[in-house]
Amino acid sequence: MFEALSSVPWTWLAIRATGITSWGLLTAVVIWGILLKTRLLGKLATPQGLLVMHRWLSALALAFLAAHMGLLMIDPVVRFTPTQVLIPFTSPWEPIAVGLGALAFWMLIPVSIVGRLRTKLGKAGNTWFRRTHLIAYAAWPVATAHYVMAGTDALAAWSVALLITATTLIACALLVRGFVPPPSRRSAPRPATTESPEREPVLASVG
Ligand code: HEM
Repeated sequence: MFEALSSVPWTWLAIRATGITSWGLLTAVVIWGILLKTRLLGKLATPQGLLVMHRWLSALALAFLAAHMGLLMIDPVVRFTPTQVLIPFTSPWEPIAVGLGALAFWMLIPVSIVGRLRTKLGKAGNTWFRRTHLIAYAAWPVATAHYVMAGTDALAAWSVALLITATTLIACALLVRGFVPPPSRRSAPRPATTESPEREPVLASVG
């Protein structure tokens, strides 16, 4: 087995490892984002804590994604050009499967840009932040389709188990989101001395 692995370019293994890591992180980002809008974890996690985690996970997912895309350009087997990596469906290898990955990448970009400009955009910033968040959440099924179609071992038992677990967790989080009401100003009158004034803006900041 180790002999077989030593004949494989390291870049290919790294492309796969960064792809799976970034997909796993993206899954966690989605789950954290949904949890942030519910009271499910109660006192176990503050909205601020969940938000910090959601942001860190997003930054890590993007970093692994950048590595995934960068490695494709130095891999000696297919030798992707920057255009083929960045423009969906122009890949010389499996254009649809790879193109879905590029599409998912572009779906994650608007929320990153609007997130930076949000305060400068005033009221419109909040509207655009929510819209771009929806696009970013929709990137998950697209990235998952890319994983299933392009992944070498996507249909191996461990990978199918991973896919089922992630899908179940997201489905459960969405169900919880539907049934557990988000924290609202009206439901809990807040004593001025104990409640943090940042609480509502923190929750309002997630799409
Ligand atoms: C959100 C964006 C993306 C995620 C989460 C992601 C994730 C993944 C995952 C999980 C795999 C399967 C690894 C394996 O087991 O073989 C994979 C494979 C692959 N991805 Fe991505 N990817 C993304 C974007 C991209 C982009 C933008 C490109 C370039 C256009 C790309 C090109 C590829 C290729 C060529 C493979 C096949 C690697 C192989 O097995 O030979 N991906 N990706």
